[in-house]
Amino acid sequence: MTREEIHKNILWGAATAAYQVEGATYCDGKGKNSWDEYYELNHLGYDGDIAVDHYHHVAEDLKLFHEIGLQTYRFSVSWSRILPEGTGEINQKGLEFYDFIVDTLNEYGIEPYLTLYHWDLPLPLLKKGGWLNPEVIDDFLGYCRILFEHFKGRVRLWGTINEPASEVMEGYIQGTHPPQEKNYAHALQVSHHYNLASAAAIKMFHEMGMDGKIGIVLNPMPIDVLEETEDNLKAKKYAYDFMSDWYISPALTGHYPQDMLEFCQKTYGAPKISEEDYKLMEENIGDYLGVNYYMRRVVEAKNLHSDKIEDKFSFVRVPDGKYTKWGWEIYPQGLENLLKQIYNQYGKKEIIISENGIGFDDQADENGFFQDNERISYLKEHVEVVEDLCAQGFDISAYYVWSAIDLLSWTNGYQKRYGLIGVDYNTLERSIKKSGFWYKKFILGEDA
Ligand code: BG6
Repeated sequence: MTREEIHKNILWGAATAAYQVEGATYCDGKGKNSWDEYYELNHLGYDGDIAVDHYHHVAEDLKLFHEIGLQTYRFSVSWSRILPEGTGEINQKGLEFYDFIVDTLNEYGIEPYLTLYHWDLPLPLLKKGGWLNPEVIDDFLGYCRILFEHFKGRVRLWGTINEPASEVMEGYIQGTHPPQEKNYAHALQVSHHYNLASAAAIKMFHEMGMDGKIGIVLNPMPIDVLEETEDNLKAKKYAYDFMSDWYISPALTGHYPQDMLEFCQKTYGAPKISEEDYKLMEENIGDYLGVNYYMRRVVEAKNLHSDKIEDKFSFVRVPDGKYTKWGWEIYPQGLENLLKQIYNQYGKKEIIISENGIGFDDQADENGFFQDNERISYLKEHVEVVEDLCAQGFDISAYYVWSAIDLLSWTNGYQKRYGLIGVDYNTLERSIKKSGFWYKKFILGEDA
């Protein structure tokens, strides 16, 4: 397969999420959501009230995406902008905002990829128990139906839920995202509710005869060990089953990894799963699997005899590994290892690399230009892996740089930048970074 042939079968894009870019938290009828409240409660010194004010700069931003030559753009819809209470009355202004995005992208010939849920839950729904309350699944479906009906024929690529694993881990185990719980039983039940919500949305999408594709977006991490001792290999399996396969397996088969399921139900009494749940999940597998890839994890055995998952393994640093300031290892080979593991276990499946990128504190020079060479190296190394996988026969239909534009990194604030487009946070001026110009050439097939 030549590079040209590979590029014919894949769309190159970039992504953002509503809460991280839009700002305008109280504009035009938007309701309050879980993250609005989170920043109010936690006084971190930053919040999403302005973010990069994409809500008011949307025309300019989309024009810049077009200038970079993006073939597709992944964004999420803010549920509380559409339904301020989470259910009930529709806020037309909210729909109009996304109409503008979708119509402009289509005019530019940029394929819109709409994520239905990227972590910002309407506050009234959080107050009634959030994702732990199974009623929220029905609320989610009500919201999905509105968007399906409204964008039918205009949006062909849909994502149900972004990275349930992150929300489960950070929201219910580590307590660093809303609702800031530390409760394994709740975490496991919530993970199941996310899977049910995603399967039910996929069902509705297909029943409504929607044009296009829908799938869940996961962040599975490949797991390695430094030394292949018997104990470390056991730890590796626990870690992979708990953090990655716990989400991949239901997405591709409708079932949880059996050993881990038995372990969790014995230790934590969760998740509780009915026969109808299995039926729903088995019968509604996504059209593709969304994979967000940033890094691998390396683990070693801790206390394998413990009956708690948190005691069985710990994360270790690779002595000669390359890490960002935020401790994320740069390891492009991990993407290949991960997709191979998924194919070996589950067979061939269409994959969308729905996020890939590097966060660091890049600074503009005296002319306001971001010379983000580290980002270019990171992206180069990763797109090479993607091209290589395509050449090996992997079905990868799209790839998205995280992120199209600098944005709010949830618990890191604004210093950790990801964008191909830089934002001056004092003036909100935008400028294409060196990586944006590099990506443009890459998409055109002109890079070295
Ligand atoms: C993904 C999320 O987990 O990683 C994004 O889908 C997030 O929303 C990205 O921004 C990078 O994570 P962080 O914590 O560095 O912002």
